Amino acid sequence: MSAPLPEFPAGFTWGVSTSAYQIEGATSEDGRQPSIWDTFTRTPGTVVDGSTGDVACDHYHRYAEDVALLAGLGVGAYRFSIAWPRVQPDGTGPANPDGLAFYDRLVDSLLDRGIDPVATLFHWDLPQALEDKGGWLARDTAGRFADYASLVAGRLGDRVKLWITLNEPFVHMSFGYGLGVHAPGRQQLFDAFPVAHHQLLGHGLAVTALRALTGSPIGITNNYSPVRLQGSTDADRAAAAAYDALHNRLFTDPVLGRGYPEIPGTDPSTVHASDLDIIAAPIDALGVNYYNPTGVRAPSDPDSPLPFELVPLDSYPTTSFGWPVDPDGLHELLTGLHREYGDDLPPIHITEGGCSYEDTIDAHGRCDDPERVAYLDGHLRALHRAMADGVDVRGYYVWSLLDNFEWAEGYTKRFGLVHVDFDTQSRTPKTSYAWYRDLIDGRA
Ligand code: FCB
Repeated sequence: MSAPLPEFPAGFTWGVSTSAYQIEGATSEDGRQPSIWDTFTRTPGTVVDGSTGDVACDHYHRYAEDVALLAGLGVGAYRFSIAWPRVQPDGTGPANPDGLAFYDRLVDSLLDRGIDPVATLFHWDLPQALEDKGGWLARDTAGRFADYASLVAGRLGDRVKLWITLNEPFVHMSFGYGLGVHAPGRQQLFDAFPVAHHQLLGHGLAVTALRALTGSPIGITNNYSPVRLQGSTDADRAAAAAYDALHNRLFTDPVLGRGYPEIPGTDPSTVHASDLDIIAAPIDALGVNYYNPTGVRAPSDPDSPLPFELVPLDSYPTTSFGWPVDPDGLHELLTGLHREYGDDLPPIHITEGGCSYEDTIDAHGRCDDPERVAYLDGHLRALHRAMADGVDVRGYYVWSLLDNFEWAEGYTKRFGLVHVDFDTQSRTPKTSYAWYRDLIDGRA
């Protein structure tokens, strides 16, 4: 391996991330009702291996074992998400006590081990009952989200150390409602814009609701992808700017008080007079998820319904997902956020970063994943450079603790520091787990 990693500041948080639908299983236990992902995964042709999250990592029953794995890793924080359809099964009305009780047990067992609970309120598993009323296309869902946030904070507000309202609203909008490759599977292209606005409105209302019930910091997590211009014409540059506005600015500008960037083809009538003030409720943290840059040029088809075309970037090594590996992209996006938003930018937490490879258990029962170690090593060096360049970053969370249900890819993409055998539920820490443990322990 290369030179030791540079020192990170004292107090920097090392963590790992997961999400409810991807690990919990137990989808019909203790009063949980279906989410849009339960419905979507039952629709033929939606998930490559035809799988569902019905069992996933069985974390709902095995959380104690998983908390022990977290303790063995020595992480200071664990980011998990709360399943709305467990806590408020139909998306309205009182809390389901059994649903809240699960997160109560999880939070207490984390605190017992000295691990800070970091809770995401929405990681894409909307109650199906709300989808039946229009999902995030319906303005009412924003108010429902704030009510649900209050129910959760009423129970956990004294113990969760960092709150994240939404996870990657861009991905949920574009994959779920624009292209239909994620739940709820709607294909509305730019007619999906209300999904952006209602998620942001829900975020703003939830920030205010949470403030009343917790003294812990509150933020939102966005996915960022530096745009790599592929082409040299004015049309290519315009396409790159349009994509950048959609992916990188649509969910950041309004939250930081700048209003909406111009997005071609969207209907501004969705936005009511006071909405932008609600959305700009002050936050204490910006969650940044980074996986890869995106190649963009002008559409080659003049009839394209999109104002850009995405181009695979072949000058980078790729993960088993085909995602380009570019640590410099992390430095670029962080310094770019710092430059663009200046004093309006709250402290950043890298709430996800990681990679999938075809990790297997060898004849000795070990799972060696040198590519993941190299990936994390490279990205942490890039992060350190960004911090040295003045960006205020408070923590880094590896995606993910466990191999898990990777949405439309089912169980075919392994992102974990811990290998999971989905037939036996046996957990095997990979080489990267030991590497991260040593790094956290100051031995790297
Ligand atoms: C992110 C998601 C997370 C996981 C990783 C690989 O976009 O937030 O749930 O799927 O990608």
